[in-house]
Amino acid sequence: MVRERKRVLAAFVIIIFFIGLSVLGLWGYASYQSTILYSYVEDVSSKVYKNNDFYVEIVAGEGWQIDGTAIGFGAQYDGYFYNKKGSELVDWSIDFVVPEESYIDSAWNGVFEKKENQIHLHAVDYNTNLSHENAITFGLVMYTSEPFTVNEIKVSGYWDRKMTSYPIFGFLMFLLVIVLVALITYLISDFRMKNMRIKQDEYKEIILQSLKTFANIIDAKDAYTKGHSLRVAKYAQEISRRMGKSVEEQERIFQISLLHDIGKIAVDDSILKKPGRLTPEELEKAKMHASTGGDILKDFTKIDGIEDGARFHHESFDGKGYPCGLAGEAIPECARIICVADAFDAMDSDRCYRNKLSREIIFKELENCSGIQFDGEIVKHMIQIIEDGFSTEDPS
Ligand SMILES: [Fe+2]
Repeated sequence: MVRERKRVLAAFVIIIFFIGLSVLGLWGYASYQSTILYSYVEDVSSKVYKNNDFYVEIVAGEGWQIDGTAIGFGAQYDGYFYNKKGSELVDWSIDFVVPEESYIDSAWNGVFEKKENQIHLHAVDYNTNLSHENAITFGLVMYTSEPFTVNEIKVSGYWDRKMTSYPIFGFLMFLLVIVLVALITYLISDFRMKNMRIKQDEYKEIILQSLKTFANIIDAKDAYTKGHSLRVAKYAQEISRRMGKSVEEQERIFQISLLHDIGKIAVDDSILKKPGRLTPEELEKAKMHASTGGDILKDFTKIDGIEDGARFHHESFDGKGYPCGLAGEAIPECARIICVADAFDAMDSDRCYRNKLSREIIFKELENCSGIQFDGEIVKHMIQIIEDGFSTEDPS
């Protein structure tokens, strides 16, 4: 569920990111059509007009008097148009305000048209594009009846600011690469983790099936104990759950319990299946299954406590059990849990020497032995489990 949410979140981030880039792209495209109307100036005394993107300078040369003509006065204007920023000017024009009776004698680097008191200069083929840090020069010679200086100028144009010229574009591209790398890394590691989890689950299942098979071998020694080890394991797991153990700990207790009677494979069938009372000598041999089980499992160190479960599950809480006579909490907890579950299931099952006991008698027996043979707290859990209707049968 959490992984599902992470995937949705990752997809969401990517989608948002691409939408952001698209919007930026459209913005960049839209700017292509933007019109600029800059450098509108009324006072040309400085003859330099600027804005943030462009720089225009017009210098009036010395005028000269033309005698005996209707016009009477001539002047040359030299212009300089500079593109300061990253924008590319793709078309441009400049307008001057001049006296109505003036006319243009000659002009260069642009096409000049005069209409009433306006001179319109627009780009010619070779200088339509004014790219970043480039400049064009232009000029004209104009005749008027009175000395005159250009005192109003208007620069128009279409500029193309490409999306890639925005610093944020580089930053977003960088982010995009980071996001893509992170996403690919995440997907690869997620895929690997998934495979690893599948493998882990397989190994766990193999271990569990092996343990259950061993348990079946143990129980097969005696028709009366068929399924005993698995039932004890299920009770022990439920007890540990109610004791507040973690899921991993519950699984460990389950596995330990499956093999608690493994030592019985070394006990003679004639003793295990004897319908009547065992002789003291036979009883001693039967009791040997605890220490033998511990010895068999001593090298099985990967499941912590599995040796203890087999060796100490017949220890008594008062110290009168076997094989070591441990008492109280000196008995490993897993062995104390198995001891109660084992006793309950033994009394709850038919044996070759008696039929199964009633629940009432079993509970009384467990309570009577609570704190003597059994750990009292575990007995309480065991009784409660049964009263709650817990079943060791598979739900199917
Ligand atoms: Fe046992």
